[in-house]
Amino acid sequence: MHLSFLSSLVLLSSSAVWALPEKRTTSDLFVAAPAGPIVGHYSAPSSNKPVREFLGIPFAKAPVGPLRFLPPVKESRWNSPFVAKAYGPSCYNSNFQVDLSGGTGENPIELAPPTSESEDCLSLNIWAPPAARATPGGAAVMISLYGGGFVLGGSDTPLFNGTNMVQNQDGIILVTINYRLNVFGFPATPALKADQQNPGLLDVRAGVEWVQKNIASFGGDPKKITLFGESAGAAATDAYLYYAREDPIVSSAILQSGTVFIITEGILGSPAGAWGNLTATLNCTKSTAAATLACVRRVPAVTLRDAVNTSGASFTPVIDNGTIFGDTVARLAAGQLTRVPTLIGSNNDEIPGETPGAYITALAFTCPAARSASHRASYVPTWQYRYHGSFPTGNPNFPDPGAFHGSELAQVFGTYNRTSATQAQRESSEYIQGAWATFAKNPTSGLTALGWPTYKRGENTLVRLAYDNVPGATFVDPATYEGPCSGLAAA
Ligand SMILES: *[C@@H]1O[C@H](CO)[C@@H](O)[C@H](O)[C@H]1NC(C)=O
Ligand SMILES: *[C@@H]1O[C@H](CO)[C@@H](O)[C@H](O)[C@H]1NC(C)=O
Ligand SMILES: *[C@@H]1O[C@H](CO)[C@@H](O)[C@H](O)[C@H]1NC(C)=O
Ligand SMILES: *[C@@H]1O[C@H](CO)[C@@H](O)[C@H](O)[C@H]1NC(C)=O
Ligand SMILES: *[C@@H]1O[C@H](CO)[C@@H](O)[C@H](O)[C@H]1NC(C)=O
Repeated sequence: MHLSFLSSLVLLSSSAVWALPEKRTTSDLFVAAPAGPIVGHYSAPSSNKPVREFLGIPFAKAPVGPLRFLPPVKESRWNSPFVAKAYGPSCYNSNFQVDLSGGTGENPIELAPPTSESEDCLSLNIWAPPAARATPGGAAVMISLYGGGFVLGGSDTPLFNGTNMVQNQDGIILVTINYRLNVFGFPATPALKADQQNPGLLDVRAGVEWVQKNIASFGGDPKKITLFGESAGAAATDAYLYYAREDPIVSSAILQSGTVFIITEGILGSPAGAWGNLTATLNCTKSTAAATLACVRRVPAVTLRDAVNTSGASFTPVIDNGTIFGDTVARLAAGQLTRVPTLIGSNNDEIPGETPGAYITALAFTCPAARSASHRASYVPTWQYRYHGSFPTGNPNFPDPGAFHGSELAQVFGTYNRTSATQAQRESSEYIQGAWATFAKNPTSGLTALGWPTYKRGENTLVRLAYDNVPGATFVDPATYEGPCSGLAAA
């Protein structure tokens, strides 16, 4: 929200800030960014390593009314300070819940639904060290994209709180970005421009551009940006490397349990006819595609979200040859994508159980990661990991939950349940978080210095993390886990 300059001064002079020890200065919390002045606050205020937290900063205009379904539009510069004190609302999630239980009906971690949702959701969050811990030349910037199958998720999930990462890893700034979901981000309608069928992916681009222009004001180096994400967040990161090839901005990428192949191989993707059924449900079927689209733009956002639920379809990215390419396999083989160092991996038990769990783990995660890594290794420094940690989640029914889908996230962010955490879990998190930060700070050779070999088939280059719950890494031949791949389309 925007407050007048006077009221933000009043806010800054509240006891919470003045009572802090010397090295925390109010001037540190007032950032004169090119986008406009921004006022943050300290997170972990009682810690001796304070972190500056800036929440809910708009990076594009609200994609509402006539802007619904269109690529994001730049926000104009603001003059009165933006008080970045709370997460912005998440983009509308689907009413559906995704079942990761492998048929058991219970997930080891229940992700809380977003605290608030709105169509006006294009905001980002920044965690940065204070000036006292500034990095000469600027801190490496890590931009994180949430997963959730392109229909669920939001940056306000406590899992993605960047405080721990920025406290424990010197020289890092963490940014989380919201992007549109479901029909709002992936309407799959021919009425839109041919190469702009996936506005939700273009939100990511707008967020990255905002970071490039503004992050120096927060102490970051705009030339050292790592884009990373898990599941759909990894697919969105991977997609970015193809469609932003002309001007990539980012200098490295981490793909956790997801590649663009989950879209191009049809594991996700709006089914043909989804838009037609939806517009019929909404009584919006008109004689032209443009008139139909105009009608859907007038539907209240909540009505639209609920109609998607009623229609039974999920709206996720489609091949438009502008953001998602039909010939991705050929592009990968030919190196026609952003050639930046990449860390790519997946988890040992993405979906629990032998059938269909092990099959889906191989089809959707292990094999596409192997294919991506093996091609990339021929033109960029590439590392592949497999996460094995099976740590308690805090849910007493899952003392040994396996390395399920998303379970590495709490290790990377250091946001695991501290009450139930074991010593091995804590140490493993420190190791993994340190590796991610090392990669972000020195994408070409940081991990080499850590002793990680770059990917090579037939050699012990697959980095196993937390194997047998032992913190650290062990190295085996990538083929160790690729047995099922030869028979799978996605291999
Ligand atoms: C992030 O975590 C820190 C440390 O636990 C806490 O102080 C801060 O309030 C959290 N931020 C948000 C937005 O929840
Ligand atoms: C569209 O509706 C028809 C008729 O109800 C149904 O058979 C079909 O599966 C639906 N298609 C999609 C993609 O939802
Ligand atoms: C569509 O029209 C039908 C029949 O007139 C009506 O019952 C229904 O409520 C309308 N749906 C919407 C979303 O307006
Ligand atoms: C969403 O669809 C499910 C299954 O059809 C239904 O049970 C639920 O009530 C729907 N929710 C909303 C908000 O429409
Ligand atoms: C995308 O390009 C491929 C060729 O690379 C073509 O076969 C396909 O029809 C195109 N799809 C769309 C939706 O434009």
